[in-house]
Amino acid sequence: MLEKRLFYFPQLSIMQSIYHNPLLRMAPGYAFSGDIHWQSPSNIAIVKYWGKHGQQLPRNPSISFTLQAAYTETEFSYVPRETTGEEISLDFFFEGQAQAAFAQKIVKFLSALAAEEILPFLTQFHLTIHSANSFPHSAGIASSASSMSALALCLCSMEQELFGTLTDPVEFYRKASFLARLGSGSACRSLYPVMGSWGKIEKQAGSSDLWGSPCADWVHPVFHTFHDDILIVSKGEKSVSSRAGHQLMEGNPYANARYQQATNNLDQLVDILKSGDVHAFGQIAELEALTLHALMMSSQPPYLLMKPNSLAMIEKIRQYRLDTQQPLYFTLDAGPNLHLLYPAEIAGHVAPFIQAELLPLCEEGKYIADRVGTGPVKF
Ligand code: PMV
Repeated sequence: MLEKRLFYFPQLSIMQSIYHNPLLRMAPGYAFSGDIHWQSPSNIAIVKYWGKHGQQLPRNPSISFTLQAAYTETEFSYVPRETTGEEISLDFFFEGQAQAAFAQKIVKFLSALAAEEILPFLTQFHLTIHSANSFPHSAGIASSASSMSALALCLCSMEQELFGTLTDPVEFYRKASFLARLGSGSACRSLYPVMGSWGKIEKQAGSSDLWGSPCADWVHPVFHTFHDDILIVSKGEKSVSSRAGHQLMEGNPYANARYQQATNNLDQLVDILKSGDVHAFGQIAELEALTLHALMMSSQPPYLLMKPNSLAMIEKIRQYRLDTQQPLYFTLDAGPNLHLLYPAEIAGHVAPFIQAELLPLCEEGKYIADRVGTGPVKF
């Protein structure tokens, strides 16, 4: 069956053909319209995805905390088109304003889903999308994970409303994760409460490079209430985008060793996450954060995204740990901002340290007090 499909649709890879479905099309005379509203969170990777191939496939498996306070809300409406065209018909508003650059990116994404007959019905409707983030646009926080996962959920709700094909929640979130991945790789992990993984992991049944998988069931309760304070070192635009960063991994002399290391780190982390050992967790989190930035420094051309205050904070965190033996650790995204990771039970102890020592190093004293979250919400 698969071979036959590939024969008839040679442009499709085996990966995409999983969700290739030319039958998802409205019959002539359809009159359905609808309004859908989802909120979906951002995530912070503990084992990092850095390097990809093919159509948004990861070079190594990754795992992240799903966040709570940093999210995107997306209102999505669809009405039948007077005349169905080949093109996507979309009005896109970001925080109330028409946004041409974002709109273009989304049209490209939706056009590919329609053209490859993953969601062929999309060209039969006029779409209006209103999107807004809970965090400031210029806080140096990537919004692609929350925005692409929110959009993917809206698309799956639309499919379910029109065709009733995604009634099973496991399948609903898996397809949403698959679609989110095509929009922005790490977005596919945002679909699940507490933690999401992405990529084939030996110790996790059902895990795949094609979509993210839920982890909450096997992760120790101490991690379900973990804190993640985002310390804003710089709000500025990054000098090298994540997209370019992934690409530079192709010429990085340490790439293969890195992919192996990430696989090993994740293998160890699965047992640590089950056991609830917060110190062992923190050691891997920091190793992963610094490795990510070491990969940037060893790319050709090399580049640096950390700022002097990122390093100053790292030193203070490590000193605090030495002085108090408290499990306060950090991770970094592809940028200068620090994510402070600690269990809820030490929040009272850590708060005065953050106030006195770390906030003065933040741009305008800004930070976002976030924590592990409960996943997307449909309104
Ligand atoms: O999903 P992208 O293409 O924005 O890449 C994300 C890369 C990191 O945030 C640095 C790591 C990760 O796994 O989220």
